[in-house]
Amino acid sequence: MPALLVTGGAGYVGSHTVMAMLEQPDFEYEIVVVDNLSNAYRAEGDKKPVALLRIEEMTGKTIQFYEVDIRDKQGLNEVFGKHDVHCVVHFAALKAVGESVEKPLEYCQANITGTCTLFEVMRDHRVYNLIYSSSCTVYGEPERLPLDEEHPTGRGISSPYGRTKYFCEEIMKDLCASDPKWKIISLRYFNPVGAHPSGRIGEDPNGIPNNLMPFIAQVAVGRLPELKVFGTDYPTIDGTGVRDYIHVVDLADGHVKALQLFHRNEFSGFCPINLGTGTGYSVYQVVAAFEAASGRRVAAARAPRRAGDLAANWAAPAAAARLLAWRAARSLRDMCADAWRWQSANPDGYRG
Ligand code: NAD
Ligand code: WQD
Repeated sequence: MPALLVTGGAGYVGSHTVMAMLEQPDFEYEIVVVDNLSNAYRAEGDKKPVALLRIEEMTGKTIQFYEVDIRDKQGLNEVFGKHDVHCVVHFAALKAVGESVEKPLEYCQANITGTCTLFEVMRDHRVYNLIYSSSCTVYGEPERLPLDEEHPTGRGISSPYGRTKYFCEEIMKDLCASDPKWKIISLRYFNPVGAHPSGRIGEDPNGIPNNLMPFIAQVAVGRLPELKVFGTDYPTIDGTGVRDYIHVVDLADGHVKALQLFHRNEFSGFCPINLGTGTGYSVYQVVAAFEAASGRRVAAARAPRRAGDLAANWAAPAAAARLLAWRAARSLRDMCADAWRWQSANPDGYRG
């Protein structure tokens, strides 16, 4: 059976993508997850991380799991040797923007060296189909909105994390120029939020969340006292930062559609595609939507701007519609309702 190798498949976006793939009735690949568990939880005595066990339970299908670091060439070689890998979906990375300022070398190691090691192993095993987890952060400070794929990348990126995503895109362009066999789809995510509607898998940040939606969810459930609104003087609808929040299940469906693109012969080379809704919401709008969806009050206090934050960004999602026949279908209300279902059923995440 052909295999789909998913690096970082035990994490937030990876687990939802594995779920979306396995929910396809005619899905023709075996799923092989490689994850070093640096940001995913496996209970003592279990063979697989909790997220993957829950997916197996919900779908009745089996996931192959290997605790391997993507920088471990030998470990990756063994996995590629055991499975008939046709395509790689590469999620594994460190992703905390603030931490990347403190530990730039760790971010280069994991995100750039790790990615290059994976590509070497792919090349050695003649696997050339790749879906890469990129980010709207590659656009840096927007010159125009909405952000389309032709917008310049690499200028004014405010964090080492963001630059690792940009550098990896540049490496992938060079790779595609070196050998026409490579087919690389770089999915530039906007702000993934929410959870699977079952409430059984979701985002499980370590410690205090850096991102807005998990922070709000933890205020609503009583784990954190109040949200600090970073900046109320931006030139936006109500002074707070505006972002293109996208439901993680829509994002996962985008990967299912991207996988189908490999079967079309007309595509080769490096292909960047935005995954966003095309609509921006402010921090206050998200807080109001979360309160409405959860029936809980979310205390919020004004705070200074966070260093490196943009005033606003949102996607031009036309390329995804044209190339993948994909469009985000879920509303901000759905994102909040599903984030709340996950948070209230799993107040301590997967460790609960
Ligand atoms: P996550 O931390 O939940 O998942 C990443 C997974 O990769 C984790 O399970 C972690 O244990 C694993 N991992 C990390 N380093 C590894 C290594 N060296 N070897 C093997 N496994 C390793 O993060 P996520 O939110 O699911 O993000 C997935 C991808 O999407 C990342 O590449 C991230 O940069 C990108 N992305 C995320 C967002 C977001 O806001 N969540 C936005 C844009 C892009
Ligand atoms: C959203 C809005 C904050 C927390 C980050 C990365 C980006 C991408 C997605 C990976 C902003 C405000 C937040 C809080 C707040 N990740 N906020 N109080 O900064 O758009 O993007 O995640 O590629 O690269 O930079 O997302 O969720 O942190 O912030 O007021 O406690 O919420 O200022 O306006 P961001 P976020």
